[in-house]
Amino acid sequence: MRELDQDIITDVSLEQMSSTGDRRLKELMDAAVRHLHDYAREVDLKPAELLAGLRFLTEVGQKCTAHRQEFILLSEVLGLETVVNTLNDLRGNERATRTSILGPFYVSDPPPLELGQSLCPHVKAPEIALYGRVMDTTGSGIPNATVEIWQTDEEGLYDVQRHEELDLRGRFHTNPEGRYYLRTVRPLGYSIPMDGPVGDLIRAQGRHGMRPAHIHFLVRAPDYCGVTTAVYLRNDRYIESDTVLGVTESLIRDIKDPDPFSPLPNLPGLQFDFTLCR
Ligand code: BEZ
Ligand code: FE
Repeated sequence: MRELDQDIITDVSLEQMSSTGDRRLKELMDAAVRHLHDYAREVDLKPAELLAGLRFLTEVGQKCTAHRQEFILLSEVLGLETVVNTLNDLRGNERATRTSILGPFYVSDPPPLELGQSLCPHVKAPEIALYGRVMDTTGSGIPNATVEIWQTDEEGLYDVQRHEELDLRGRFHTNPEGRYYLRTVRPLGYSIPMDGPVGDLIRAQGRHGMRPAHIHFLVRAPDYCGVTTAVYLRNDRYIESDTVLGVTESLIRDIKDPDPFSPLPNLPGLQFDFTLCR
């Protein structure tokens, strides 16, 4: 038996796990152990700090319910979800629209709506036109693509935060040229849930906890890779400091008023096109 020291322990751990049958599990766990050990050595982790960290993760788990996923929130505020999304984007076609955070307010099976209808008939706020095209990588429109959209109202709240009724969300199908267009309102940015251990961490780090104004999209078409993404409004004060690091330059747009290209010409226009790869 060797005398274990802070370096040998890593090799001994890897050796003990070398019997792992599943190759990918072995790769994932070997790297996790190497990085965790390196982390402890780098910061000279104290026993009380390890316990505090484990207590924090326990609280993150205890905060999870059927409607609240504090672990996903943690992966978002650490930038981990965006690292994984970015790696996934790299595996696809570089011309495809970039991915962004799905977030906890997605509802599967949103109300089906016709092109030109309002996304939020119950919201009393000035309307804008939201429109664009779903295209393949050659720029040809994809007809009958499914475009699911969800967003906050002009006060920064999702429908599910106000009432049972679904609003501010819907599913559209593109026309024969691959175009979609609808009426909606300007979304407002909002705070991520701050009443749990992740919120405590955000406050301890002196961060604001806000997301800039955005509209979520899930775009799918048969034989194409679907994309989960969002459009972000350029003039938002939090555009450079999204707490969940979902913003990237190619997803930022302006609302134009007037907008000569809008298919609903009397409204300010927000154009957002999508490119899907096969
Ligand atoms: C959202 O964009 O809906 C969202 C993302 C992360 C945390 C909270 C909300
Ligand atoms: Fe959101």
